[in-house]
Amino acid sequence: MFKVGDQFQVTIEKMANRGKGLGRVNDQVVFVPYSAPNDVLTVKATKVNKNFIEADIVDIVTPSNLRVAAPCPHFTECGGCHFQHLAYSTQVEIKDQLVKETLQRAIGNISETAFLPPIASPQEWNYRNRIQIHVNKNEYGFVKRNSHTLIPIENCKIAEPALNKALANIKSIPDLLKNEKVELLIDKNLQVHQRDLNSQGQPVLFSQVNRFANKLLVDLVVDKVVAYGPKAKIYDLYSGDGNFLVAISKSLPKTELIGVELNSGLVKLGRAEIAQQKLNACYVHSSVEDYLETVSINPEDTVLLDPPRTGCDAKAMMVLGSRPRNKIIYISCEPTTLARDLRLVKDSAQKWGLSFRLDSVQTLDMFPQTEHIETVVEFSIDKIDTSGTTH
Ligand SMILES: C[S@@+](CC[C@H](N)C(=O)[O-])C[C@H]1O[C@@H](n2cnc3c(N)ncnc32)[C@H](O)[C@@H]1O
Repeated sequence: MFKVGDQFQVTIEKMANRGKGLGRVNDQVVFVPYSAPNDVLTVKATKVNKNFIEADIVDIVTPSNLRVAAPCPHFTECGGCHFQHLAYSTQVEIKDQLVKETLQRAIGNISETAFLPPIASPQEWNYRNRIQIHVNKNEYGFVKRNSHTLIPIENCKIAEPALNKALANIKSIPDLLKNEKVELLIDKNLQVHQRDLNSQGQPVLFSQVNRFANKLLVDLVVDKVVAYGPKAKIYDLYSGDGNFLVAISKSLPKTELIGVELNSGLVKLGRAEIAQQKLNACYVHSSVEDYLETVSINPEDTVLLDPPRTGCDAKAMMVLGSRPRNKIIYISCEPTTLARDLRLVKDSAQKWGLSFRLDSVQTLDMFPQTEHIETVVEFSIDKIDTSGTTH
């Protein structure tokens, strides 16, 4: 039995969730950050559990042939990126494979034809439109992985060039470095803003971090919804400020769209956009789980789900699985909660004598160089006919 601090050799078999490589020692699973499949490594245990060990690389004995030189001098020290040591095409393949494995494990028997080819981000570097800067005694930068130590950084390889320019000039912005944590962000009109993240009462508003990949994501979702044909209503659950709702409404002006969002700041932004663009849409300020308990969504209506990383509330999944549904699109930024939620819908459908069908799964890389994975899934809930087949 190993203990924290022990060193041993391990070969990485494959990548696992959270961006870590997986190997085995004495039949125990070992997770190693910043490793690559087929690496032979000397590692040091940082956490020892009954079921697995976490370990950091001490020495690369034989490097994987998938390794490339990481361009950022702060890679592995700053916790922001996890995959700079892998070529971008390899990152996309790894994420796609992880989603396949995670969903097959949770749901089982998914037809190979449901898995559509992964979509890469149009930009693998300089794509982030939001960065958080930590400040300590007039020094500023990112914080070191697993600590509060500041790493002075003046250029982040995944941030948009305009943010790097603002970062390099941050000292010239009056009073900004008096705050402990500052966010630099680019808005929809490509203007750079800065805000103090510690001040009270300022809602942290969600926006997609990669506008280049987000354009592909929105187009993909709009194409799917349009292809389903005319519907009475489309429900955009977890609608944020209307990223999907506005684009769908412009493509299907006759269809009524209902956005459901918990954050009042985002509801306000969404409502303003609807009014300004005179869209056939409305917003409900509510949690999705409470909303689904009060409305009855018709089977032929289309439902979009785009929850935060924590996934959907179990109650919401039970309700969605309890009736036949033509099409649900689930946009996920965390495969493990996606798998859990789909399992809940499947179980709920079975309980009600219905069948769950996963129609398509596609990864779309919103977060190059990082472990984070965006997936778009389509599923339906069908009646089971008397002959035992589904339709
Ligand atoms: C991943 S974001 C997606 C937002 C939007 N669809 C977009 O693409 O910009 C998730 C959104 O869900 C909202 N949210 C979180 N929990 C919620 C809940 N229980 N009910 C409704 N909205 C929720 C958050 O405020 C956030 O806007």
